Amino acid sequence: MSNILPESLSIPAKTLSGHGASSGLLQECRRFGSRGIILHGAALEQQGRLDALMAAMPAGLSIRTLRHRGGEPTLHEVSDVILAARHHQADWIAAAGGGSIIDLAKAAAALVNAPHPPAHYHDGEPLDEPGLALIAVPTTAGTGAEATLNAVLTNEATGAKKSIRAPGMMASVVILDPGLLNGCPKTVIAASGMDALTQAIEAFTSRNATWLSDTLSLQAVHLINAHLEAVYLESGSASAGPLLTGSYLGGIALSFARLGVVHGLAHPLGALYHVPHGAVCAACLPHAIELNRQVFGAKYDILSGAVGGDLLTRIRDLMARLDMTSPFAGKPLREKDMIVAETLASGSTRANPKPITRADVEWLLARIFE
Ligand SMILES: [Fe+2]
Repeated sequence: MSNILPESLSIPAKTLSGHGASSGLLQECRRFGSRGIILHGAALEQQGRLDALMAAMPAGLSIRTLRHRGGEPTLHEVSDVILAARHHQADWIAAAGGGSIIDLAKAAAALVNAPHPPAHYHDGEPLDEPGLALIAVPTTAGTGAEATLNAVLTNEATGAKKSIRAPGMMASVVILDPGLLNGCPKTVIAASGMDALTQAIEAFTSRNATWLSDTLSLQAVHLINAHLEAVYLESGSASAGPLLTGSYLGGIALSFARLGVVHGLAHPLGALYHVPHGAVCAACLPHAIELNRQVFGAKYDILSGAVGGDLLTRIRDLMARLDMTSPFAGKPLREKDMIVAETLASGSTRANPKPITRADVEWLLARIFE
């Protein structure tokens, strides 16, 4: 029997959910002070949402909006947001966007008072100074970044993609508004949804799993499996709410149970081949399940029950229904030693239920690039 609780548990202090919940964003931000930064992507501007928010701004607020260029965040971009926050004398930072935007805002909020540049903490130095309040509003159902204690960032000078992690990085407020998924590109729905499903499965089978993470991640697997295809097929589907909830629950679970070898592989493969994170996860997931299957034990059958059939068969079927093909199949494998070394050094890999060896990583890579 696993432990009931993890040794340390941190979750967002407040979570609002439901259609239209994002209209309360500025009221929530105001609780943390009168001056703030809103970092956003295209989704918040669609259908006039950003204009409507700003038009209904509560009296006395001073807000600077920053639009992210898109793509996965870099240390340089974190520095830019920190400078903007310091210049504006911000009390809080809100992020309305996908996982990249939330991670960018999360890192900037955490590091705004830090004495060293972001690269210092990206290299693993502890972060002691408290930062600003973070308000997270996801506009994709995928990364669970709104509920985690880390921000995945790339050092553009070295190409290294890894996390900054600190206890103070948890969002103070999360707003889950399924209407914000409307208009999200289908390829993003598919890839981010497969990331969420991978995270839920890896958290459920992690060697750090507890009763609490099992409960949350199994519900996440159930919700994502049941609702991802409907959201992919129809923008505005009623399944958007359950899918967003599944992603959020998976994020909470992984924040303390951690993940597995798929996420260990995902950072070096994604950075080297410039493939979006969710697409990397989807390409690796079936092979990692095969590798881990014996060690999963009864959890394989529990996961199969949650998806309504054999787990591996269902995942392959779902990927076909989402029109996902591997971005690696048939490609030459480059820099194998680097990929193996980074995968073995990853905290995600260390949480994998089967102890991962170099031979295991090579076995996975051979199949992923087959
Ligand atoms: Fe992920």
